[in-house]
Amino acid sequence: MAGIHVRGGTIIKTTNKGNPIAYPVQQPDGTWTTTDISARLVKRIQDLGFDAVVNIGGDGSQKISQVLFERGLNIIGVPKTIDNDLSATDLTFGFSTAVQIATESLDRLVTTAESHHRVMVMEVMGRDAGWIALHTALAGGAEICIIPEIPYDIKKVLQKINKRYAKGRGFVNIVIAEGAKPALGNVVGEKSKDIGDEHIKLGGIANYLKQQIEESGCPAQVRTTILGHVQRGGTPIAFDRILATTMGVKAFELIQNGDFGKMVTYKNNTISSVNIEEAISSYNILSKDHYLVRTARSLSVCFGD
Ligand code: F6P
Repeated sequence: MAGIHVRGGTIIKTTNKGNPIAYPVQQPDGTWTTTDISARLVKRIQDLGFDAVVNIGGDGSQKISQVLFERGLNIIGVPKTIDNDLSATDLTFGFSTAVQIATESLDRLVTTAESHHRVMVMEVMGRDAGWIALHTALAGGAEICIIPEIPYDIKKVLQKINKRYAKGRGFVNIVIAEGAKPALGNVVGEKSKDIGDEHIKLGGIANYLKQQIEESGCPAQVRTTILGHVQRGGTPIAFDRILATTMGVKAFELIQNGDFGKMVTYKNNTISSVNIEEAISSYNILSKDHYLVRTARSLSVCFGD
């Protein structure tokens, strides 16, 4: 398909709903239940004569890849998600583009923070991993970065804000990940309405933080921006296009060699592969002593801890 290197999103109209292992089915009484249709799906794909399937997606998608592989499907995983949540690969494609968009957005918000001496809170995606938030905070020069891996203490956040306002007309830029949570609280979101989807639809922690700051009596004006799906769309940056292309070529090689049940990886500047089983064995979150966390702390970025 020509010209798809400049497009984001799914081209053949796949879905991130309808997990074949917990597929929604309506019962005669109208209520919904879920059932495992993976064996039926594998048979259908084989009957249609497909040699192999390349499953392009993140942690959740690759868990499905593994089940389908175990049911006999010739499948290869390719790691694509803005969340960067697969630990077998240093980077998933889509992630760097999301960081670029989020950074450009933060650059625009800094203008208002500085001009009107405000606290600007920008919420980014990433589910339970703080990769997008931390990269954006570093690239955009935020003073506070709140990530799921480090539950925040509102007192510490207020200390940082007050310190910046103490000498006069301060301003603060905060990047907060959608999966962030207060040390004494929970994530903000709503239960998914999709049958069989147990995930909480994250979103709104920025507004909760704004409320906490205002209720503390902090005189600074606070404004929030929830970036949402803006960071998931548009034209991929060059790095992601190259990563997607090289991973695609590697996936094709694996298929040619009949080396199924593998996920393509990008580690230490090398394209390789691992068993999908291994790829999904641990979720990729930031460790507290990750070099980016340490770098940010050296620059006096506050994590609220
Ligand atoms: O997994 C990718 C992701 O963009 C997450 O960062 C986010 O929480 C979620 O998908 C949003 O999903 P939806 O588009 O279904 O609202």
